[in-house]
Amino acid sequence: MQKLIHELTNILDAQYILLEDQDKAPYLTDWRKRFTGKALAVVLPCNSAEVAQIVKLCSEFRVAIVPQGGNTGFCGGATPDNTGTQIILNLKRMNQIREIDTLNQTITLEAGCILQTVQEKTSEHGFLFPLSLGAEGSCMIGGNLATNAGGTNVLRYGNTRDLCLGLEVVTAQGEIWNGIKGLRKDNTGYDLRDLFIGSEGTLGIITAAVMKLYPLPISQWTTLVGCESIAATIALLNLFQKRATSLLTGFEMMTRESLELTEKHFPRLANPLKGNPPFTVLIELSDHESEEHVRQLLETILEEAFENRIISDAVIANNLSQANAFWQMREHITLAQAEEGANLKHDITIPLSTLDSFIQKTDQLMRCKFPGIRIINFGHLGDGNLHYNIAPPLGSDPKQFNENHEKEIHDLIYSQVERCKGSISAEHGIGQLKLAGLRSHKGEVAHNLMLTIKKALDPHNILNPHKVVSI
Ligand code: FAD
Ligand code: MLT
Ligand code: ZN
Repeated sequence: MQKLIHELTNILDAQYILLEDQDKAPYLTDWRKRFTGKALAVVLPCNSAEVAQIVKLCSEFRVAIVPQGGNTGFCGGATPDNTGTQIILNLKRMNQIREIDTLNQTITLEAGCILQTVQEKTSEHGFLFPLSLGAEGSCMIGGNLATNAGGTNVLRYGNTRDLCLGLEVVTAQGEIWNGIKGLRKDNTGYDLRDLFIGSEGTLGIITAAVMKLYPLPISQWTTLVGCESIAATIALLNLFQKRATSLLTGFEMMTRESLELTEKHFPRLANPLKGNPPFTVLIELSDHESEEHVRQLLETILEEAFENRIISDAVIANNLSQANAFWQMREHITLAQAEEGANLKHDITIPLSTLDSFIQKTDQLMRCKFPGIRIINFGHLGDGNLHYNIAPPLGSDPKQFNENHEKEIHDLIYSQVERCKGSISAEHGIGQLKLAGLRSHKGEVAHNLMLTIKKALDPHNILNPHKVVSI
């Protein structure tokens, strides 16, 4: 391995090859502190040519590479194994915006650009880059593409895949595939771009991308609404979809238990709705016409919802800071869970038609089997995406509880997901966390096709081995 390290110094300045334990440490543990690995080195290339040379070298030495962006992923995809033989390739130095094309409404940028910086830069040019998630201050575009991240704007603009037009990728052989094109139509054979998006660093290293931009809305209105049942939240979603159509840009659901936990750790973010109703929904409408138009529309829909007894309470944000406070309340649920201690995440999608049945049945089974358990259920209801997270009963040791019950809890919840024809990963991916469950969830044929793709593109298993699929 000394030879490999020596040859790396022919590619990168020594300061960008981290070898000391204290230098490597920040890259070795995931955001949730769920996985910790060891690495031979952490390398920090600054352009695609350097990435290609590093991959070529590692391929010759048969040394595995773990690509890493902001390290905010939830499935351990960016964490190396425990052997100390893998190299972490972090893309944070590749953070240039190459071009903002205002006529084509696209941005071409490098993989290490931080999402929030991209949002800010595009907004300075009068455009919206609609990808938005709680980790936007640290996650990177390459990581967003590699996980096909979702977030809070999916119901209007789609997930990261839907926002991407072109990619530049370093293959497992150390070649650079230049797919940097800003085309909205391109039917020239197999879609390589879509193969790399969502592949979590197992098929190639994304070094740059062309992403879609949208006009900035003139006005946005945010409201919090209380519902007594999950059926009512779905009826409300359908009402908004019918009346507001494409103006509906956010529809996030939070249960009472989720917001109790948020208030416990962040008292300034208490639910402003009286009595913290069983279900609180955060709704956002965005308009390109006028403030009055969207405000009036919002009020009319809320009136109809009150008349039809779909909602029990509503507060409309009167200014930007109130709207931000509503969003913070939603986004701090994850942070409150982290403060509370170890927890079990289930990032699932269920068709809206069976969501009510899923929640009723799963809640009932969980509470019966694990008395005192806290079901921190919230998520992007507009996409049928629940974060059905589990916190242990108050007073119990979270780590011990998870050790004793993790498998049983996952099995129970995922069997209900299968019953309802849902997915065990809506937006967070598979990584190492859900590797074992993927085969049975996908079925033999689909899983074998995935293995075939992995073997064809990465025959020496250099790129993020034992993540997503294991060959
Ligand atoms: P990393 O964590 O560094 O990597 C994730 C995976 O992508 C790994 O498998 C890694 O190997 C691979 N990878 C990274 N960069 C590249 C690259 N350039 N080329 C190839 N492979 C690469 N996710 C959502 O979808 N929706 C949410 O609403 C959401 N909210 C979150 C809120 C919080 C507070 C946190 C901490 C996370 C949240 N996430 C959410 C999860 C996470 O932010 C996303 O998965 C994000 O897309 C990961 O980006 P990253 O740059 O941190 O990637
Ligand atoms: C979010 O939507 O806030 C995150 O994806 C959810 C999580 O913490 O599970
Ligand atoms: Zn989410």
